[in-house]
Amino acid sequence: MALDARPVAMLDRAVVFLGPPGSGKGTQAKEVAKAFGIPHLSTGDMLREHVSKGTPLGLKAKPIMERGDLVPDSLVLKMVAERIERPDCSHGFVFDGFPRTVTQAKYLGELVKQHGFKQPFVLHMVIGSSVLIRRLTGRRTCKVGGEIYNIYDRPPKVEGICDNDGGELIQRPDDREEVIRERLLAYEKRTAPLVQFYRRLGQLQDIDADKSVEEVKQRMFESLAGIGGVR
Ligand code: AP5
Repeated sequence: MALDARPVAMLDRAVVFLGPPGSGKGTQAKEVAKAFGIPHLSTGDMLREHVSKGTPLGLKAKPIMERGDLVPDSLVLKMVAERIERPDCSHGFVFDGFPRTVTQAKYLGELVKQHGFKQPFVLHMVIGSSVLIRRLTGRRTCKVGGEIYNIYDRPPKVEGICDNDGGELIQRPDDREEVIRERLLAYEKRTAPLVQFYRRLGQLQDIDADKSVEEVKQRMFESLAGIGGVR
């Protein structure tokens, strides 16, 4: 069956995308959200929205994100807990960029239990760091719908304009090479330990993320079809 023709299945758990900056978490998380009709929750996007609105959380997060560090757990956890209270999360949700620390992972485990979901299923995007700089410096994102492009590998039909909605394509301020290096360090130090954490719990599946977008998508849906949470 063609992937796009699959019926909307039900998901009774959170799917988590875990992987370094530029590994394709956002690109693939959108596909899972679309296929299952559940929300795509990117903590990076939520924080950027707070920054652009100048909320108290945004004001605290801005300098931290600009230097490529992680926003403190206490701030992120409160934001996530509020978000999954909304009714659109009642059949599951896809996390992209959360959890990022062991504290966040333990909190998520408790949170899903409270909401009557099974424990999260983690898709671990495996990729070497050499390709990530090119992917991130080349990334452009639609200001309107959030569609993700790459000027080298996935360019829009018209430069600077989104194919879907004509929105302006922008470059993230943290996609400068010096900040990317800090983000990669933060990933290795604070987030990579989650691979072992979830592997030990039997909740993690490795995905080779150094393939084309279509190949990664195919592999990811095969993994999701193999878990008990999809019915
Ligand atoms: P966040 O927004 O989560 O950024 P990130 O984790 O660094 O990940 P990216 O969005 O950069 O990459 P991605 O893996 O989603 O790749 P994408 O699909 O876009 O976080 C930003 C900041 O917010 C953090 O630094 C931190 O400060 C803060 N933050 C967020 N969450 C937090 C948390 N939980 N706790 C604390 N702080 C938090 O793809 C990248 C490019 O590659 C695109 O151009 C795409 O077209 C291209 N591409 C994708 N797949 C492929 C492929 N298979 N082949 C070729 N090109 C591809």
